[in-house]
Amino acid sequence: SSKMESITDILHQLFHTAICAAFPDITDPPVVIAVAASNPKFGDYQCNSAMPIANIYKQSARNLAQKILDNLPSHPMVEKCEIAGPGFINIFLNRDYAVKKLQAIFQNGVQPPTVERKKIIIDFSSPNIAKEMHVGHLRSTIIGETIARLLEFLNFEVHRINHIGDWGTQFGMLIAHLQDRFPDHLEKMPPISDLQSFYKEAKERFDEDEEFKKRAYDSVVKLQSFEPKHIKAWKLICDVSRKEFQKIYDRLDITLKERGESFYQTRTEKIVKELEEAGFLENDDGRKIMWGDESTTVPFTIVKSDGGFTYDSSDMAAIKHRLQEEKADWVIYVVDSGQATHFQILFACAKKAGILDPKKHRVDFVGFGVVLGEDKKKFKTRSGDSIRLVDLLDKGLEKALDKLKEKGRDKVRVLTPDELKRAQESVAYGCIKYADLSHNRNHEYIFSFDKMLEDKGNTAVYLLYAFTRIRSIARTANFTPEKIKELSKKENISLEHEKEWKLGKVLLRFPDEILKTLNDLYPHHICEYVYEIATTFTEFYDSCYCVEKDSSGDIVKVNYGRILLAEATAMIMEKCFHILGLKPVEKM
Ligand code: ARG
Repeated sequence: SSKMESITDILHQLFHTAICAAFPDITDPPVVIAVAASNPKFGDYQCNSAMPIANIYKQSARNLAQKILDNLPSHPMVEKCEIAGPGFINIFLNRDYAVKKLQAIFQNGVQPPTVERKKIIIDFSSPNIAKEMHVGHLRSTIIGETIARLLEFLNFEVHRINHIGDWGTQFGMLIAHLQDRFPDHLEKMPPISDLQSFYKEAKERFDEDEEFKKRAYDSVVKLQSFEPKHIKAWKLICDVSRKEFQKIYDRLDITLKERGESFYQTRTEKIVKELEEAGFLENDDGRKIMWGDESTTVPFTIVKSDGGFTYDSSDMAAIKHRLQEEKADWVIYVVDSGQATHFQILFACAKKAGILDPKKHRVDFVGFGVVLGEDKKKFKTRSGDSIRLVDLLDKGLEKALDKLKEKGRDKVRVLTPDELKRAQESVAYGCIKYADLSHNRNHEYIFSFDKMLEDKGNTAVYLLYAFTRIRSIARTANFTPEKIKELSKKENISLEHEKEWKLGKVLLRFPDEILKTLNDLYPHHICEYVYEIATTFTEFYDSCYCVEKDSSGDIVKVNYGRILLAEATAMIMEKCFHILGLKPVEKM
C-alpha cells in the first residue's frame, strides 16, 4: 500500500523471519530494533540481536550477524545493511521508498497506521458537583481529551465519559440549604451563580447547627429514595454546576458525554446484591468490604455501616456496565495518581468477580502528578483558596495578548483585530494544554505562565510560530493546498540533500510515534516528536533554499521538491497539533 507504515514493525518482522531461519532452535528470538544514533554513517536503524544470540551460542556476534543478514528477506524499504563493531547491524533506508511513502500524504492526507478496531470507553475530567473544578480536573481534562483524539485518529470506536461526582451525602446539606434560601426554587430557577460559596454557606450551617444537620441527613435519605421534590432540587443544583463546567469545555474545545455516579444507582444496588450472594463480601465492624488480590493491601468498602453506598461500590457498578453491558474492549481512567490504589483495587475486585477478563479486556489507569505553583507548593491563590479554572483561563488570555504585543503582532497591517483574537486564544489555551501534555504525566509539574509562553524551546508558542512559518513558505510562492496536490502529481519530494534526508526520516517516524503513544498512553511522546520535527525543519531550512528571491523581493527560482517537503512537514505537524488540541492560525 502507499500509506505510511511503522518502520520498526516492518523491520521487526523482517529480522524475526531472518533470525528464525538462521537459528531454528531458538523458540523466542530476541529481535531488538532501534532508531540509529544521529551519525549517518551508522545507518538509519539498527538491529542489535546478534549480541544476545552470541550469548546463547558462545560464538562471535559478528559471525552471527552475518548469518542473520544471509537470511534476511529483501524489502523495498531497506537499501542495505552493514555489520559494525562487535556485531551491530546498521540498516539503511531506501530513499525512493521514503519518497513514495511521504508523497502519499498529498493524495490521502496524513493517515493513521492500521490497528484492530476496538470499542473504548475513556473516563476523564469527572469533576464533582457543587465543588469548583480544580487544576487536578484540568489535567484529567487535557490529558483525557488528547488520548481520546489519538484513539479517534486511529479509528477506534471511542466513548468519552464524564464520571461526574453527582451523588453523595453532600447533597443533603445542599438541598436543605436550598429549601431555606430559595423556598420557591421548585417554581422559579434560583439565581445561584457561584455554587462554591453556596456550598461553603451550607457547610458552615451543617457544622454549627444541629437542627440543620438533622434535616440534611433526612434530605439524603429522601433523595436516595427518589422523592420527586428532592430529585427536582438535586437536578437544579446539578444544572448550575453543569453550566459552569460546560463553559470551560467550550473554551478548551473538549467533548464529553455526562454519565455521573447517579446514573449507576440502581446498578449499584444490583451489584452489591450479586457480590453478597457470591460470597465476596466480608463484615468489618458493620461495613461490608471486599478484598482484591495479593497485590492489594486495602479492601474496597462496598457498603458503609449506615447502609449507604460509596465511591467504591459505584465504580464496581460502572466497570460492570462498561465491560458487560456496553461491551467495551478497553476502559481507560484518567485520574490523578492519588487514586492509583483505588483503581488497583477496582481492577483486582472486578477480576475476582468475573467482570474483567484480562484475556479479553484491557483496562488502564492513566495517572498524573499534582500541579504546583511557581513556589513549588500546591497550586493555590495567595489567600489559600484553590484557583478557579475560569480565572486561570482569563489570566492565560491576558498573558497571551501581552506576548503577542511584545512581538508587535497587534500593530495594524500585521494582524486584524479578528486575527489577533484568534491568535490570542490559540496561544493562551494552546500553551496551557501543551505545558501539561509535554511533561511526563507521572511527574508533578509547575504551572508557570512565563515558562509556557516562552518562544524558545519545547513550548506551544515556539511550535505555533514554527508551523505558521513553514506553512507560509508554500503560500508565498502562491501554492494553495489544491495547487500542492496538483504539483505532487508531477514533482517528487526532494530527499537528496543530507538535511532533506534527515527531515524526511523524522517525518517517516510518524506512525511509530503514534503507536508508541497508543501503547503506553504517554502524550509527551507526541510533544517531543513534533518539537523534533520543528527543529529538524529549521536545520533543513537554514541550509536549503525553497524559494529564491532577488534583491527587490521578486521570486526568481522555486525548488518544487522542497516546497513539497515543507508542506508534508506542515501536514504532519498539523495532525500532531490536532491530537494535542493545539489550534494553529494562518497568521500570528
Ligand atoms: N469525581 C472523582 C474525583 O474528582 C473522579 C472520578 C474518576 N472516575 C471514576 N470512575 N472513579 O476525584
